[in-house]
Amino acid sequence: MSKTIGILTGGGDCPGLNAVIRGVVKSAIIRHGWRVIGIEDGFEGLLNPTLCKPLTLESVRGILPRGGTILGTTNRGNPFSYPVERDGVLSHADRSGTVVENIRALGIDALVAVGGEGSLKIALELFKKGVPVVGVPKTIDNDLRETDVTFGYNTALETATDALDKLHTTAESHHRVMILEVMGRYAGWIALESGIAGGADVILIPEIPFHIDRICAAVTRRSARGSRFSIIVVAEGAYPAGGDRVVAHKADERQAIERLGGIGQFVAQHIQKCLEMDVRVTVLGHLQRGGSPTTFDRALGSRFGTKAVQMVATGEFGRMACLKGRTIISVPLEDATRELKLVDPQGEIVRTAEDIGIMLGR
Ligand code: F6P
Repeated sequence: MSKTIGILTGGGDCPGLNAVIRGVVKSAIIRHGWRVIGIEDGFEGLLNPTLCKPLTLESVRGILPRGGTILGTTNRGNPFSYPVERDGVLSHADRSGTVVENIRALGIDALVAVGGEGSLKIALELFKKGVPVVGVPKTIDNDLRETDVTFGYNTALETATDALDKLHTTAESHHRVMILEVMGRYAGWIALESGIAGGADVILIPEIPFHIDRICAAVTRRSARGSRFSIIVVAEGAYPAGGDRVVAHKADERQAIERLGGIGQFVAQHIQKCLEMDVRVTVLGHLQRGGSPTTFDRALGSRFGTKAVQMVATGEFGRMACLKGRTIISVPLEDATRELKLVDPQGEIVRTAEDIGIMLGR
């Protein structure tokens, strides 16, 4: 029986989204002869059917190496709490009923939602309202449970490691302490794995609150041993023991989630007081979300996309495609979105870092 699949990308973009879209479109058309509708700008597109257009083999030609998403995305516009402005006063309305009606009106038999924790929670709520939903895990933060890894993470790691390689040469020449602030929200995956790969001396992650005096002592010990420079990687969500995260923009009625940023400067200001050396800060920011996906992310995105179509074929709704070991399987969206997947402070990767002499701020 012929089917129509709707696909949307929600939340922050990341490299590999186009590989997923291409995987869905190609396998739906080539393997099953189905139709695919591309929904622009995440769930926002389901409130405005003019943003929903057919995707053909032609539409996905040449997109595999491209970063971003050809469908556009937004991290606003949750239909269950949709911002409505009337006479200058902002309030929130539940517009999920309209989304469900539009899905029916567009003839969409199954919705593939590609997103991180926030977007997949919305997808789960739509599933509970009767929409046949399949989830695909996306985020550079790698903080989604039930999948060994999300696509986008590997490319972000490459970018962060490359930045660390570059910071090394200038740090060494000037005998400086170089701090690299990386993304990751409340999880330290990007900082930890790029820090190990990029030869960092100190890595600060949200899962291990740090002590400024111990960081200073580690840098001083290194200098005394003849290494007159140090590289510190700090995750944007890291914070001092007994202190708070540094927030660039608090959550408010316009922006549901707080925006982190500034911890690099915080660490610089404080370690500068106990070090003789020059300290400089680089904030890597959205460079981590851009660029062409790595081979790994292209392959993983393609596998997730085709798995999503298989899940539609077998009626595995309310579930998310995920990677377990070397195999792509599916798990309930409920399990994947229950809580974030954080770094285990006692786990093997942290142990690896400490075994090779990296200081984790504790
Ligand atoms: O979740 C992905 C992410 O890049 C986080 O690492 C970061 O905290 C956040 O999104 C930045 O969001 P925005 O693009 O809204 O600044």
